[in-house]
Amino acid sequence: MLKKILLPIATLFVFPSFLSGQGMWLPIDLINQEFNMISKGMKMSASDIYSANSGSLKDAIVHFGGFCTGEIISSKGLVLTNHHCGYGAIQKHSSVENDYLKHGFWAASMEDEKPNEGLYVDFIISIEDVSDKILPLVLNGLSEKQAIDSVLKSNPISGKSIGVTIKSIYYGNQFIQIVSQRFSDVRLVGAPPSAVGKFGADTDNWVWPRHTGDFSMFRVYTAPDGSPSDYSPQNIPLVSNNPLTISLAGVGQGDFSMIYGFPGRTTSYLPVSEVAQQIEIMLPIKVQLREIILNTWDSAMRVNPKVKIQYASKYASVSNGWKKWIGQMEGMSVSHGIDTLRHRQGKVIKYHSANHENAFRAVDLVEEFDKQVLSLENGRKSILYFQEVLRNWELLTWSRLANDLVRLSDRGGNIDKAIKALQSFEKNYDSELDRRASKNLVNEWISAGKLDTLLNVPIQYLEETDAFVQGLFSPHLYNSLPLNSSKYSDTIRVELCRNHLAFNLWTDLITKYRSVFLKNKDKENLFESGMKEWMNLHMSAAKGSGITLAADANSTMRVSFGEVGGFSPKDGATYNHRTTTDGILDKYIPGDYEFDLPQEFRSKLESQDFGKYADLDGKLPVCILSANHTSGGNSGSPALNSDGHLIGLNFDRVWEGTMSDFYFTPERCRNIMVDVRYIMWVVDKYAGASHLIEEMKFTN
Ligand code: ARG
Ligand code: ASP
Repeated sequence: MLKKILLPIATLFVFPSFLSGQGMWLPIDLINQEFNMISKGMKMSASDIYSANSGSLKDAIVHFGGFCTGEIISSKGLVLTNHHCGYGAIQKHSSVENDYLKHGFWAASMEDEKPNEGLYVDFIISIEDVSDKILPLVLNGLSEKQAIDSVLKSNPISGKSIGVTIKSIYYGNQFIQIVSQRFSDVRLVGAPPSAVGKFGADTDNWVWPRHTGDFSMFRVYTAPDGSPSDYSPQNIPLVSNNPLTISLAGVGQGDFSMIYGFPGRTTSYLPVSEVAQQIEIMLPIKVQLREIILNTWDSAMRVNPKVKIQYASKYASVSNGWKKWIGQMEGMSVSHGIDTLRHRQGKVIKYHSANHENAFRAVDLVEEFDKQVLSLENGRKSILYFQEVLRNWELLTWSRLANDLVRLSDRGGNIDKAIKALQSFEKNYDSELDRRASKNLVNEWISAGKLDTLLNVPIQYLEETDAFVQGLFSPHLYNSLPLNSSKYSDTIRVELCRNHLAFNLWTDLITKYRSVFLKNKDKENLFESGMKEWMNLHMSAAKGSGITLAADANSTMRVSFGEVGGFSPKDGATYNHRTTTDGILDKYIPGDYEFDLPQEFRSKLESQDFGKYADLDGKLPVCILSANHTSGGNSGSPALNSDGHLIGLNFDRVWEGTMSDFYFTPERCRNIMVDVRYIMWVVDKYAGASHLIEEMKFTN
């Protein structure tokens, strides 16, 4: 049941998104949202969600590997996260004989669970506002970093694998101290085949209606005394006191939902000129550069099955950003986002103009920003070109790894890791394809630099090097790379790397990149300090209307909440709030790389034996939509119902609403979750891993 709360009209006018789910709240600030959340149907208190001293939902939420979110779903440390978050681990354990990406993997018992070197999860122990310690030091002239360092130095907190950090919130207007504990024995327990976990792959990525079972499972292990420990065969499963309870009751249109996790970065309070520059100038360049790479890779992947396997993961990662940015440009335009942001900016200025203390400060700041944004434009464009080239010209990656190897070897260090890194690069590298793709990319960079001489393209370097090495894109340069390094002895490999013509390429270009980056740094710092004041003006304007604004995401723990529901992406069309397995069978294309299905899985779906996992109409829901504000990093976050029970697993957003990173509107912004009932059905009925189901706690 939804209760409506009344707020002054003026408040809604200035911050229309307040009531509609914008915002990723710090768990310690939820107390201010409790009323709003309860009015939307929540049946818990803020302290059920976060409490430093007594059990709360927080205890089950982990930062997974620092790049995703995960949650504990059994008292034996079982972790649920996305398939795309566990992908690297699943891939590492896969071989031609045991291709877990293709066929899935389910450990029959704990002995079969697979350790993953380097993978960890962080639990949050406490979050505390330490603004009153940091801000006076900053006022006294210390930089933020110095102030943070000095407070951390005097910190008495310590313990096994305990980490203490202090993070700036609201662009330096608030500081929070986070105490966390790291567990680094995290083992792979299970993953469905990619045909389930990555169903629809890049074509369906960012898209609704969606049918991806994007989940995998891991387990946290501890030393026999329960403390964190690196992998050891003696380790035991983590004893968790507060695992999530799983609800098989499902959710419907209008129901309360909540996402708990670690969103990476949002920028909801930027001056309009800055957003316009991002959307109108920077994103089109990034999209164009990525298209060059994607088109070249795609044409090779279509005809060469080996290249298809080698480049699938890289393609997914390059195309993930590419597709999101196109969605952001389009979404911003269709929703008139810039106009709304301009209107909000005008309201902040107006609020402060009426307040004598700051009469001209807001308007002055915006004018300053407009000038700064203009003067930053060229530098930012230059950096962006560099970043895309450094990231996607694979020969540079080779050169970087070769440099690591040679440096280590010259120092007499252990070179095993460096050799492994080179080998795993080589496994997925096609030098001829890289030659063609990066030739197009670098040529585009050079032509852009010739057209716009302020762009800081190292044309002379590229052209001179080109002449010197008989062609930066000559087949010889690529053919002569000492790949297939397993056939060389270590000493020979080191010398072959050192003497290759492309050896210095990375060092040369990264040095040039750094100098371009540094040129802009002072101006960017000035912009940042302006943002501190601008955010402050935003906050005081909101406060004047009795409203607290949610801080932009910065990889700290956050909670967002909203209503489950579909929406209308365009005139005449509507999206339902759920998809079902019917849609999986509709999308099935035999033999297709993205939409094929294992025969056995299809038969299981066709037999419709969904039992207790079925929805009221007997169908098995696959994905659900909700208007929760989420971002990159929220992948793997639990979706919780009004009682705090697990109803789904967040993994994506709809393409029409990806601009939520700049501008969230409940009209088009939706996060996409796998329905927990589909996950449980796959684990139970398809994988037959009923021993895992037995570990979990369910409610209806
Ligand atoms: N779009 C989702 C996110 O940003 C899922 C990405 C993984 N899937 C893919 N096909 N690339 O992370
Ligand atoms: N897919 C994203 C992630 O991996 C989530 C998002 O951007 O909505 O974190």
